Amino acid sequence: MTAPSDTEAPDNDPVDTDSLLSTAQAAIAGARSIEEIRQVAASVSGKRSPLAEASRRLGALEPAARKALGQQIHQARTAIDGLLEQRRNDLEREERSRQMAEARMDLTEFIPGSIPAPAARGHLHLVSQTRDSLEDVFVGMGFEAAEGPEIETDWFNFGALNMPPAHPARSMFDTFYLNLGPPESTVLRTHTSPVQIHLMEEAVASGGLPIHAVMPGRAYRHETEDARHLAVFHQIEGLVVDKGITFADLAGTIQVFTTAYFGPDIHSRLRPAYFPFTEPSAEFEVTCTICHGEGCRTCSQTGWIELGGCGMVDPAVFDAVGIDADEWTGFAFGFGIDRCAQMRHQIADMRALTENDLRFLRQF
Ligand code: PHE
Repeated sequence: MTAPSDTEAPDNDPVDTDSLLSTAQAAIAGARSIEEIRQVAASVSGKRSPLAEASRRLGALEPAARKALGQQIHQARTAIDGLLEQRRNDLEREERSRQMAEARMDLTEFIPGSIPAPAARGHLHLVSQTRDSLEDVFVGMGFEAAEGPEIETDWFNFGALNMPPAHPARSMFDTFYLNLGPPESTVLRTHTSPVQIHLMEEAVASGGLPIHAVMPGRAYRHETEDARHLAVFHQIEGLVVDKGITFADLAGTIQVFTTAYFGPDIHSRLRPAYFPFTEPSAEFEVTCTICHGEGCRTCSQTGWIELGGCGMVDPAVFDAVGIDADEWTGFAFGFGIDRCAQMRHQIADMRALTENDLRFLRQF
């Protein structure tokens, strides 16, 4: 057996595992970050640590000494590993809570002046409010609400309503014609009465008679605007088709509506009139609410304001849509929603409804 060289010579210096342990303990306790504990771990229990060195020397020892030292090294390593583990956990926990504290947002924090004043809230235009409350009155009386198109063919706006081409009554309606199809075949509806035709045609096609409906919507007339006329205005049409309907049903409906909508102080009257699609026909007027019947600029000094027209459905209209006029009778009415708003709120000039002046609109 050759003598072992210097470097390989077993180092018989006693290993003081207690002092290794306490040195490691101090180093571990002194680690202030995950990175530091990693370095400390390498130096106290890594491959180049005194502990690893001591283990490597075990092989050269006598069995008894090897066993004793081996146990001491094992105990020291277990203790050191435990301490490392614990310190690492503590540091990780600290690190996590530091990160969370840094990331926390204070939702109650605000920079004074940085929050704009809440946006002002709008509301429905007076005309829309009026349409809704008129609809409510009629729905309360058992009518259903329906709508129709604003662009109509000549047939729906005139023909089916007993106004064949060149009928003189067409001049009652100053018509906007659309540049669509043959000349004068398509119009912006001049009243809501064409919706009657749509409803009756549908009812005939689907067996949907009787009809009790109101039809609010926009209508157009090519005319000069003044205190009580707009070129783009709104009407609400009413149509009842049933068995045994008389003019008394029409008059009663108008009366109940007037009191429900305007209150008991406002009177209404029916005056004989002419419409091609109703016979007999009447004009429906209410006391002028601006002057209370005294006479003023708004009512042209008459004390009355015309709201619309009405009458018993002309048999020629029933013919046009294929309803048997011997079996069914009906009444129809149509009046201005803008006019109602004007009378209900005493608006001297109806044009205020279209000027979009907030000082006016905010009042309603
Ligand atoms: N459509 C008519 C108009 O606008 C009003 C009306 C409707 C008259 C229904 C009678 C029956 O003037």
